[in-house]
Amino acid sequence: MKKTVTVRVWRGDGGRGALEDYRVEVSEGEVVLDVVHRLQATQCPDLSVRWNCKAGKCGSCSAEINGFPKLMCMSQAAQAVVGDAITITPLRAFPVIRDLVTDVSFNYIKAREVPPFQPAAGTRPGEYRMMQEDVQRSQEFRKCIECFLCQNTCHAIRDHEENMTAFAGPRFLMRVAELQMHPADVLDRRALAQDELGLGYCNITKCCTEVCPEYIKITDNALIPLKEQVISRKYDPLVWLGSKLLRR
Ligand code: SF4
Ligand code: F3S
Ligand code: FES
Repeated sequence: MKKTVTVRVWRGDGGRGALEDYRVEVSEGEVVLDVVHRLQATQCPDLSVRWNCKAGKCGSCSAEINGFPKLMCMSQAAQAVVGDAITITPLRAFPVIRDLVTDVSFNYIKAREVPPFQPAAGTRPGEYRMMQEDVQRSQEFRKCIECFLCQNTCHAIRDHEENMTAFAGPRFLMRVAELQMHPADVLDRRALAQDELGLGYCNITKCCTEVCPEYIKITDNALIPLKEQVISRKYDPLVWLGSKLLRR
C-alpha cells in the first residue's frame, strides 16, 4: 500500500532554519529513513542526514520524529504519520550543523573524562577471571550503540544547556557504573561521578531509559546503583572515618 504524505523537515544550519514541507510517497513497511532517502533522491539532493547501518546498530540516524527522540531507521513511517504529516527535526540538545545533522562532540568530550578499565597492577592477559553473573550484569550496558538519544532527552541537558559542562549525562554515568561493577577493575570512580561528572544532576526521571533503542535499563540498573555507591561512600561512618584517617 502506498500513499503520499507531507514530510515536514527542519532545513537550515547553525544560524537559522525552518520547517519545510514536501509531498513524499510512503510505502507500507518503510522506515522514516527510507522516506528521507526518497526525499533526497527526488526533491532535495542537498538534504543533510547522518546514517550508516540502517539496522539500528550504528547509532547515527538519531533525530526527533514528531518531537520524540528516535532512530529513523527503526521507526515505521506509516505509523509515524500524524494527520497527514511526519515531522522530522534534528536532536534538540545539540547544535545543528545542517538540516538533520547535529554536532554531538559534547559526548566525545565527556567520554574522555571517564578513566578506562584499570585492572590490578601486574594482571596479565588470561588472568581476568570473573563470575558469569558479573559478566551478565555489565553485558546489558555494552549493548549501547552511542546513539545519544538518552543524552538528548535527559532534561538536565535538554532544558539546561548551562549544565553541560558539569553533567556527563546518562550514557557516560552508565559507563562509570559499568566500571564500578567490574570485579577486576580497581579504580574507585565514585568521587569522580559525583564531583566531576555531575551524578547529582540526575533526579531519576527515567526519560533516558524510555528512549533507549537497546532497551537498556539505564536508570534502574546503572544510575541508581551508582548513586547508592556514592551515598555509601559519603555517609557510611566507617568509610567516612577511613577517608579522614587516610587524609592525615
Ligand atoms: Fe543510545 Fe541507549 Fe546508549 Fe543512550 S544508552 S546512547 S539511548 S543506546
Ligand atoms: Fe536524566 Fe535519566 Fe537521570 S533522564 S535525570 S539521567 S534518570
Ligand atoms: Fe545505523 Fe540508524 S542508520 S542506527
